[in-house]
Amino acid sequence: MARTALVTGGSRGIGAAISQTLKAQGYAVAATYAGNDEAAAKFSEETGIKTYKWNVGDYEDSKAGIARVEADLGPIDVVVANAGITRDAPFHKMTPEQWHDVVNTNLTGVFNTIHPIWPGMRERKFGRVIVISSINGQKGQFGQVNYAATKAGDLGIVKSLAQEGARFNITANAICPGYIGTDMVMAVPEKVRESIIAQIPVGRLGEPEEIARCVAFLAADDAGFITGSTLTANGGQFFV
Ligand SMILES: NC(=O)c1ccc[n+]([C@@H]2O[C@H](COP(=O)([O-])OP(=O)(O)OC[C@H]3O[C@@H](n4cnc5c(N)ncnc54)[C@H](OP(=O)(O)O)[C@@H]3O)[C@@H](O)[C@H]2O)c1
Repeated sequence: MARTALVTGGSRGIGAAISQTLKAQGYAVAATYAGNDEAAAKFSEETGIKTYKWNVGDYEDSKAGIARVEADLGPIDVVVANAGITRDAPFHKMTPEQWHDVVNTNLTGVFNTIHPIWPGMRERKFGRVIVISSINGQKGQFGQVNYAATKAGDLGIVKSLAQEGARFNITANAICPGYIGTDMVMAVPEKVRESIIAQIPVGRLGEPEEIARCVAFLAADDAGFITGSTLTANGGQFFV
């Protein structure tokens, strides 16, 4: 039987490519989003992938949404915690609201996404947990104290879950993308984007599909020995 995958933030950007790649590989895929109904409807129409709307920052919302997905598609075997936001500002100008918004979506949202799925994975003795972190969680970034903190936190989550999940055949891994040409990156001023590209040895932004193939690799049934790892895909910009 086809395995079931949940991709949060799976209707746009990197998440959309992940959803489509997993579908192409035979997974039954559910993609979630937060509020952009138009983009989600267009995505569903074009791909045939069902979308679900909830805020990953809200535990009860996440739990109820996940129950809906499992009622529709069956137990979730692969969870990709991809939904994320930026609220950039230099630290001296960063507001508590900017801090809390990013922590709530990018870090608490990862907890809220994995926690309701975890007991079922333990019972069924199979699971693949994949968290989309970031190059800036590895190296830090000017103007991103909030974002870098959450993305570094993701690495702590997977390293701990890898230890807790190992005897249940559940793996937990993180992917650290470098700069990928999605709305998130296209929203930064062109001059800044050019200066970013100048720092990437391969001389270009990454494609969402290049992250999706990392997910497919880690999600596979025969990837059971890879756990607690961080897969870096950044065009050579930063080596850990
Ligand atoms: N782009 C990059 O260069 C880059 C680099 C490193 C890491 N990343 C990470 O990769 C992930 C995807 O980034 P992206 O560039 O593809 O982002 P994106 O194009 O902005 O898409 C974000 C997706 O997440 C959803 N989302 C945002 N907040 C949410 C919430 N509270 N609850 C549920 N869904 C929510 C959005 O839903 P709506 O459509 O409803 O808004 C959308 O589907 C993020 O975790 C990001 O930090 C990105």
